[in-house]
Amino acid sequence: MAKPKRRYVCQNCGSVATRWQGQCGDCGEWNSLVEDAPQTVFSARHDLSSGGRAIEFTPLDKPGELPVRQASGIAEFDRALGGGLVPGSAILMGGDPGIGKSTLLLQVSAHIARAGRDAVYVSGEEASGQVRLRAERLGLSNAPIRLASATSVRDILTTLGMEKPPALLIIDSIQTMHSDQIEGAPGSVSQVRGCAFELIRYAKESNVTLVLVGHVTKDGTIAGPRVLEHMVDVVMSFEGERSHQYRILRSLKNRFGPVDEIGVFAMEGDGLAEVGNPSMLFLSGREEPMAGSAVFPAMEGTRPVLVEIQALIVRLQSGATPRRAVVGWDNGRMAMLLAVLEARCGLNFSGAEVYLNVAGGYRLSDPAADLAVAAALVSALGDRPLPTDAVWFGEVSLAGEIRPVAHSSIRQRESAKLGFGRAFGPANGPAADKGIRFSGLSMLPNLVDRILSDA
Ligand code: TYD
Ligand code: MG
Repeated sequence: MAKPKRRYVCQNCGSVATRWQGQCGDCGEWNSLVEDAPQTVFSARHDLSSGGRAIEFTPLDKPGELPVRQASGIAEFDRALGGGLVPGSAILMGGDPGIGKSTLLLQVSAHIARAGRDAVYVSGEEASGQVRLRAERLGLSNAPIRLASATSVRDILTTLGMEKPPALLIIDSIQTMHSDQIEGAPGSVSQVRGCAFELIRYAKESNVTLVLVGHVTKDGTIAGPRVLEHMVDVVMSFEGERSHQYRILRSLKNRFGPVDEIGVFAMEGDGLAEVGNPSMLFLSGREEPMAGSAVFPAMEGTRPVLVEIQALIVRLQSGATPRRAVVGWDNGRMAMLLAVLEARCGLNFSGAEVYLNVAGGYRLSDPAADLAVAAALVSALGDRPLPTDAVWFGEVSLAGEIRPVAHSSIRQRESAKLGFGRAFGPANGPAADKGIRFSGLSMLPNLVDRILSDA
């Protein structure tokens, strides 16, 4: 048998190198390469002399044993999870510091505990007193949650192993946990990975729903190993602007349900309140239809985000050179769109100042924004407000065609979820989605007719 080659595996991204390096060549993480044990290769045999045991095969339609979901009682949380908590599953919840992860999970634990199920909340970041203080502020002091302040995974699992497993176990956060069997400081790649592995194994064996809180780095990924995302069943992200009231809970991966459901919350004085009608989020301040404002269902990677695009057109009396200014979108792209509107639709922007703004300091890079920008510009030019319940998406070519874009149905579903009733998009794109009225537009002049004649 050939001597097995040494191999080094990055504990962050899982890539394999043939020699040790200080930095992983693939993901750029430092000190994450660890020598992998030499692999022994088994081949198929006709008996059990390899020392392996026979495994059992079952048909897909075997009755029973399907996981039963348990509603947490917080509808927006259950919705984002695809229907509730699955016993024996592991959930990773990421989010910026201060966004409200601990608050939300304390509220979820209280709901579970008040429903008569055992909820354990282990904080590695705050003393129990601090968590109790928060619970008091949230009006949850009387919920029978079992609270602990601990960071040793061995202590936590030893304690839990001595009693009946809880229904819900919350670890806040995985970066503060450490295991004395693993080298490295808490938060290091090997510690995060090793602690998560032990906790997940306990959750699977004991049929506990495990929630791991994960910190997020500046670039938006969960700090520590990427492999954490592979180990858990569900990855959720809690998002929002800290200075802003609204929070969106999204699932980025879900082994038990769809990933395009979101939960919407508002951070209030007494914790996170569910926002039953999230369309208010975008319609507030826009109750009166305003000319020049169009809503665009953008995609952030695989994630939809609804943004408002605002256009303002000022006719100049004098012969001064008109200004064109764009915030949050590509300057050149707007110049192109104005040229197409002039050349293909006979509109006249010359002698007018054109301002374009993407609300909320958001930066758009999605090419599907063309149609929404065009709608905002035409609406501003003709002083015709667009329907407040409409969203617009599609790419515009130099010939003035409205071209299909990716993720058409995710855009429509997210818009419907956020309370929008109409979508305007490319005519020969994928079919319309349920829950929203779709109108296909094939050429830019169709859009202009629609806005300027639709009084
Ligand atoms: P927290 O849950 O500690 O965030 P995370 O665990 O994600 O770091 O939330 C902290 C913020 O939430 C803090 O800045 C104050 C705010 N907050 C409220 O506005 N109302 C409340 O009732 C609570 C508990 C927190
Ligand atoms: Mg916290």
